[in-house]
Amino acid sequence: MPNTNQVFFFDTTLRDGEQSPGCTMHPAEKLRMAHQLAELGVDILEAGFAIASAGDSESIQSIAREVRGPRIASLARCKHDDIIAAARAIEPAQKSRIHVFLATSDLHLEAKLKITRAEALVQAAESVRLARTYTDDVEFSAEDATRSDIDFLVQIVTIAVQAGATTINLPDTVGYTTPAEYTALFRTIKARVPGLVGTDGTPSVILSTHCHNDLGMAVANSLAGIEGGARQVECTINGIGERAGNAALEEIAAALMVRRDKFPFTNNIDTKQLYPTSKMLSECISFGCSPNKAVVGANAFAHESGIHQHGMLANPLTYEIMTPASVGVSSTNLVLGKHSGRRVLEQRLAELGHPLTREQLDEVYHRFTDLTDRKKSIYDQDLIGLLQPDKSPV
Ligand code: KIV
Ligand code: ZN
Repeated sequence: MPNTNQVFFFDTTLRDGEQSPGCTMHPAEKLRMAHQLAELGVDILEAGFAIASAGDSESIQSIAREVRGPRIASLARCKHDDIIAAARAIEPAQKSRIHVFLATSDLHLEAKLKITRAEALVQAAESVRLARTYTDDVEFSAEDATRSDIDFLVQIVTIAVQAGATTINLPDTVGYTTPAEYTALFRTIKARVPGLVGTDGTPSVILSTHCHNDLGMAVANSLAGIEGGARQVECTINGIGERAGNAALEEIAAALMVRRDKFPFTNNIDTKQLYPTSKMLSECISFGCSPNKAVVGANAFAHESGIHQHGMLANPLTYEIMTPASVGVSSTNLVLGKHSGRRVLEQRLAELGHPLTREQLDEVYHRFTDLTDRKKSIYDQDLIGLLQPDKSPV
């Protein structure tokens, strides 16, 4: 029985993440990332979309063969051949999942799939049933759930559950919803779909979030989904994914760690692996994350202004809500720049082996502010140069 006090992390870096521009990975890179995701503690690892290409299918197979810990999943449309391809690819895994999806909004049904709601109901039921013949762990995703008619969504989710789906995912495919709406959506599905809870009162089906970041709300919406009753979050490292990306795994994990008061749930993520995993992904794809990216960006634990640096030296809790070590970052970075005060300059020079008297510090600080007006990046050798005014950079 699923544990209601646990949030399961479903990582889709190697599927939804990889399918976005600049994020293509070679099979060896996907395998390397998969081992690291296992180290990080993800519960479900979506390794790819088996029908998409022979390469993707082989990649899923090698991950299923070699990576132990997470349940290995392959995506499949609600089509016979997709499900067979997914089943073959995940076959070597100790624990596996087939993840079938079908659009449920009228817009997608009419413009993209060109099928009626009634046909969609049949496809969903048949696909879940077929997938269940290969594995007892089947996820059904109602693509574009947040723009779907709620009565139809209840109907198709009910049918998927009756057909044997063990996880129901309600994707915000185009990053359209708001946190309050997303919480309400989960509450409605919980209240109206029969069979989500067993006779003993414990959930028999896990509800899942899957949020895109088109309006910058993917992480907020994922957390809102948890508030509404979701116990699986689908996310990617560094938030990579279609268009503006998916919900960033490291941000959700950090939020659950820092705000346990609001989210009193356990999870299996080893947060100390967040930064190493983010770094590894940046090595595998064509871009790193922006410096101001939450949790893993270069500036996430950097402080330049004098007031903040003063506070940090007095007590790091003044300006940091988690320790760098807790997410695998080696240390706080007190950056020396034009906003820095004399305390941090004094400390840095002492670390470099140059303790100063008060008078010396006054003099060096004066030269320091003069230098920072002219130079944007200040390095240790610049500071040493300040001690020898004749040699300081012009
Ligand atoms: O965004 C989405 O709806 C998806 C589904 C395939 C789960 O990625
Ligand atoms: Zn997606």
